[in-house]
Amino acid sequence: MTPNQEDGKRAAGEAALQYVQDGALVGLGTGSTVKYFLLALGEKVKSGFRIQGIPTSQDTARLANELNIPLLPYESNWELDVAVDGADQVDPQFQLIKGGGGALLREKIVAAAARQFIVIVDEAKWVPVLGMPMPVPVEVIPFGWPNAQRQIRALGWPSHLRKKNNAVFKTDEGNVILDVEIDRIEDAGTVEAQLNGIPGVVENGLFVNRTSLVVIGGTQGVQIKKCPTF
Ligand code: 5RP
Repeated sequence: MTPNQEDGKRAAGEAALQYVQDGALVGLGTGSTVKYFLLALGEKVKSGFRIQGIPTSQDTARLANELNIPLLPYESNWELDVAVDGADQVDPQFQLIKGGGGALLREKIVAAAARQFIVIVDEAKWVPVLGMPMPVPVEVIPFGWPNAQRQIRALGWPSHLRKKNNAVFKTDEGNVILDVEIDRIEDAGTVEAQLNGIPGVVENGLFVNRTSLVVIGGTQGVQIKKCPTF
């Protein structure tokens, strides 16, 4: 991570605050870029801004609690005004790879429940075509995961079981992640459906037709790209 990239994350995270209105129900994404959004949001809350958040991970819930950002219970019936989240790659069709931090399942649920889904990234994440070197994270239930891996292989894609600190990585839902190596993903919708059609797969990190707006932080400041279909 270069200092420029860190500055880009901060700039994007802080700029996203302009899309959150007082009184809004807000989806809170996960990751190092979202951290800057939460820090800025926490400052607004301190000065009287009233929002309620739904966090997409235990890590985000922890940070939101530290910042006194009010959270809604997961079980409540929420329809969100806006959700703000990071991404690992964004292409010019506003298709995303997400899940580098392993929170893709809750992130996709939250994005789907939001009227506006805003993606915040540093400029290194903006790519002409999705794919390697960023693998697509696929969340799989632990039971028989090698079978899912074999079926993913049969579609033409190698994958590896994600590990962290030499142990198998477990998501907040207790599932495992297969990181699937796909070179060029032009039709992300088809790949998303193919992966989700495999028994045992819960969700994958391709986000298609969900993003309203991308906020890109970079050396030239902040760039806003609005999806024409939203
Ligand atoms: C977590 C995610 C993150 O949003 C994505 O990995 C980007 O993270 P960062 O802002 O730390 O680069 O999808 O599951």
